[in-house]
Amino acid sequence: MRARVFPDYNAMSAAAADVVARRSNEEPSAVFMLPTGITPLGIYRRLVEMHRSEGLSFANANFFNLDEYLGLAPDHRASYHVYMKEHFYELINADPARVFVPDGTAIDPEAECERYEAAIREAGGIDVCVLGIGRNGHIGFNEPGAPFDSRTRVVELSESTRKVNASDFEADRAPERAITAGMATIFDSKSVLLLASGTNKAGAVAAAVEDDVSESMPASMLRSHPNAVLFLDEAAASDLGHGVAG
Ligand code: GLP
Repeated sequence: MRARVFPDYNAMSAAAADVVARRSNEEPSAVFMLPTGITPLGIYRRLVEMHRSEGLSFANANFFNLDEYLGLAPDHRASYHVYMKEHFYELINADPARVFVPDGTAIDPEAECERYEAAIREAGGIDVCVLGIGRNGHIGFNEPGAPFDSRTRVVELSESTRKVNASDFEADRAPERAITAGMATIFDSKSVLLLASGTNKAGAVAAAVEDDVSESMPASMLRSHPNAVLFLDEAAASDLGHGVAG
C-alpha cells in the first residue's frame, strides 16, 4: 500500500479531491463509494468548489455511501443521509437516482443489505472507494474483528466508536448498530483512497501499515489491495517508521 504524506489537512484534501475529479472527468459515469466523518469534509468542500468554479460535473456519476446508522430516519440530523446531502450531494449536480445510502429504517435490514450489494453490482462495481479510518482502525463501520470476506451487513458498533460519535446524538447516546459496506465490498473496489488526518489517527495508521495484516486491524486489509493509497497529513503519519515515501 503506497502512502502519500502531505504537509497539512488542506493539501491532503486537495490532492484527494483531484483524484475524484480526474476520475469523474475521465469517466462521467464512474462509481464512487464515499465516507462521512470530519476527515472528508475538506474533499467535499474542494469538489463543490470545483463544481462551482470549474464546471466539474457529477450528473452521471454514481455514489454509494459506506454506511448508515440503523434506526435513524433519513431526515435525522445525525444520519449519514443528512450529512451527505448537506456537505456534498445537494451542493453539486448529483442525480438523486444515482445516489445510494443504506436505509437505516428498512423494515428488513438484512434485505436492505442485499439490495445495497445488488445495486453496487448493477452499477458495475465501485471504481473509487474513499475511506476514513477510526481510531481503532475501523473502515466504514467494520470494527476490529470484521471478517475480510464480509459483505454489506448489519453490525454492532464498539463502545469506543459510539463514544467518539456520541456528541452527534441527544443525551450522548449513539445508536448501537449500523449498516456498513463489508470488508470484501470495499476490497472489490478498483481503487481505494484511505484518508487520515491528525495525531489521534497516527496510532491506527501505524498499526495498519506496519503491524500484521489482521482482522483485528481492519484497515490492514488494504495492504494486499492492488491499488490502495493512503493520503496522510504529517500528523497522521507521525507514528510511522522510515520507508514511507512522501
Ligand atoms: C465513522 C464513520 C467512518 C469514519 C470514521 C472516522 O465511524 N463510520 O466511515 O471513517 O467515523 O471519522 P472522522 O473522520 O470524523 O475521524
